[in-house]
Amino acid sequence: MLLLSKDDIKKVFTMKDAIETNKLSFELFSKGKSEVPLRTTIQAPNHNGVFLFMPSYVEDLDVAGLKVVNIFPENIKENLPTAPAQVLLIDGKTGIVSSILDGTYVTQLRTGASSGAAIDLFAIKDSKIGALIGAGGQASAQLEAMMVARDLDIVKVYDLDKERREVFVNRMKEELKEYKTEIVAVSSSDEAICDADIIVTVTAANKPVFDGTKVKEGAIVSCVGSYQHHMQEMDPVILKRASKIYFDSEEAVLSESGDILIPLEEGIITKEDFTGDIGDVLLGNIASRENDSEIIVYKNVGIGLLDLMTARAIYTKAKEEGIGTEWN
Ligand SMILES: NC(=O)c1ccc[n+]([C@@H]2O[C@H](COP(=O)([O-])OP(=O)(O)OC[C@H]3O[C@@H](n4cnc5c(N)ncnc54)[C@H](O)[C@@H]3O)[C@@H](O)[C@H]2O)c1
Repeated sequence: MLLLSKDDIKKVFTMKDAIETNKLSFELFSKGKSEVPLRTTIQAPNHNGVFLFMPSYVEDLDVAGLKVVNIFPENIKENLPTAPAQVLLIDGKTGIVSSILDGTYVTQLRTGASSGAAIDLFAIKDSKIGALIGAGGQASAQLEAMMVARDLDIVKVYDLDKERREVFVNRMKEELKEYKTEIVAVSSSDEAICDADIIVTVTAANKPVFDGTKVKEGAIVSCVGSYQHHMQEMDPVILKRASKIYFDSEEAVLSESGDILIPLEEGIITKEDFTGDIGDVLLGNIASRENDSEIIVYKNVGIGLLDLMTARAIYTKAKEEGIGTEWN
């Protein structure tokens, strides 16, 4: 069994690789070529935590996987990861676990790449301004994915926590300097989004984190947070203004995300307003952006198949390049 740490993964796998892998995964998902049961959730109310178990299987590729990811938001106060995780990669011919990967990093990569794939498909071609709301554990991969998908002049970053957004921006200026994009901290979400072509929200908020009336025409908004019924970071106004509403998996979003469930229950939108899954756009089954003034919403909650396919792609490259630690 091959153990792959974050450092190992970084040696063999880039955000660009992750975006391409996610596109393949979305296609497989929409073709019905994967078995992805809805994730099992167990609440840990004493610690404001939740355990998530995400299995998946692709018969044609003889590979299965399980991600265990536990969301413990209080960890941020202790400087511990808020979503500690491991991914088990399983050989579909023998059932033997072939690799254990740093699931926190795999999650960051594939979640960033989910927005990245959507931005690649749906953002206007000459997008120049990005906005990132949320500067927590997932934020760095979201930021990099934006920069891989489009050649941006500037990304404005807002987080409720002033110190966190400033520390984050300073760290990102160093880590992502190769992209030559200006990264600045701003003091309100209005300031972040007002002229943005690309908006990514990645917070653990229970109330909308931006004003949907201030989003400019032609923008794409990727909402990554809100994975439980009571959680909401998307202003429902944006759903009324959007010409297209896409999902990573409509079924998964409708099983858990307040971003969509709350506006549905309040009658602000109906299921008729939904365009469909991103995989169906990639397969040419449904329309993509049709003009530069459309506002496009992409709501994603993450599907286990992304972890499986990302882990598989990383494992394949690590084996080729002799990276990682064998454990018997
Ligand atoms: N869609 C997916 O595939 C996927 C994958 C992993 C995590 N997530 C979810 O994404 C969210 C963010 O994850 P994380 O690991 O970065 O969380 P985190 O707890 O590390 O950071 C969240 C950040 O959001 C900020 N925030 C909260 N409310 C805000 C507001 N109103 N305005 C601005 N900033 C605000 C906090 O200050 C914090 O810095 C979580 O809900 C997580 O469960 C989604």
